[in-house]
Amino acid sequence: MLVAGEPGIGKSTLFLQTALLLNNLTTLYISGEESEQQIKMRADRLKIKNDNFYLLTETSTQSIFKEIKKLKPQLVIVDSIQTLQSDIIESSPGSISQIRECAAEFQRFAKETNTPVFLIGHITKDGSIAGPKILEHMVDTVLQFEGDRHYTYRILRTLKNRFGSTSELGIYEMSGDGMQAVNNPSEILIHQKEENLSGSAIAASMEGMRALLIEVQALVTQSVYGTPQRTVSGFDLRRLQLLLAVLEKRGGFLFGTKDVFINIAGGLKVEDPSIDLAVIAALLSSYEDIPLPQHICFAAEVGLNGEIRAVNRIEQRISEAEKLGFEKIIISGYNKKGYNTNHYNIEIKALSKVEELYELLFR
Ligand code: TYD
Ligand code: MG
Repeated sequence: MLVAGEPGIGKSTLFLQTALLLNNLTTLYISGEESEQQIKMRADRLKIKNDNFYLLTETSTQSIFKEIKKLKPQLVIVDSIQTLQSDIIESSPGSISQIRECAAEFQRFAKETNTPVFLIGHITKDGSIAGPKILEHMVDTVLQFEGDRHYTYRILRTLKNRFGSTSELGIYEMSGDGMQAVNNPSEILIHQKEENLSGSAIAASMEGMRALLIEVQALVTQSVYGTPQRTVSGFDLRRLQLLLAVLEKRGGFLFGTKDVFINIAGGLKVEDPSIDLAVIAALLSSYEDIPLPQHICFAAEVGLNGEIRAVNRIEQRISEAEKLGFEKIIISGYNKKGYNTNHYNIEIKALSKVEELYELLFR
């Protein structure tokens, strides 16, 4: 299994913690990056005791496999694949041929002995697993650990899984003593505030199999320079440009002279298209400088012609919104067949065009 993530995101912490918690397995944690003292310090921070946990600070795969033969671990964690070196290959650690060879040696070991092996790999800022995209083909499972380093929330996502679903994910919070699983992510991701501010809207989105309510913030201001700025954090820039074009064409809003900023709260990155309607609502709210009514949320995709499109798992989204005390959810008219109104104690408003959204919110 390959675990990929940017440096500093918490891969070593999560996997050290996981290995320490599995005290019924003989676990070998191989680190080519940190000293024994450093890892001990981290383990002390995690405050977990485990007598079946073995640590090896070594980078030569030949030496590593010698130790593995002696110990016969039931679980192996390699931190990181980029630091390992096989004698068979001449090139330096981290080069494509080294990474490929080292991963192949562990793959052979895993298959021959039926031992699960986690390979931790660094990815670069642009998201590719530093050089070796090749690894993705060799392994059975690719997990990606993501989030913004400056925020505390992290998501462990499955990108590939030969043994099960790819829609499961884990949400964690980095705390002073390790990663804590977040069981009620929606409650944390929605900003608790006293007064209602313009430019903020809540999306009932899905992350994997989970419904997740997320706050979208928009800021629309008069452009000072000739070229208006579009800045996004956690949202796709092209998607924003598309939604702005829809608003220009359908609603006659002049975003051409405005700077526009979109921010997804909590440092999360959202790809679920159902967040579109919340983005539009946040944009309109900031544009008009009128706060949206409280206890209202959105779940729909917006098409090129301003049509409000259906999204999957609508019942799950409605239930989550209801559970968190929302009074109204705005969805697509095309989703109407997907749920039974009588089941819910929340007002469900179905729209078919963005023009109707403006009417509903501000007239
Ligand atoms: P680390 O696991 O080293 O990241 P990676 O292996 O992905 O490079 O962790 C990175 C950060 O996490 C580090 O800056 C310190 C912080 N941290 C905590 O906030 N709490 C903790 O309990 C631990 C162990 C680390
Ligand atoms: Mg690390």
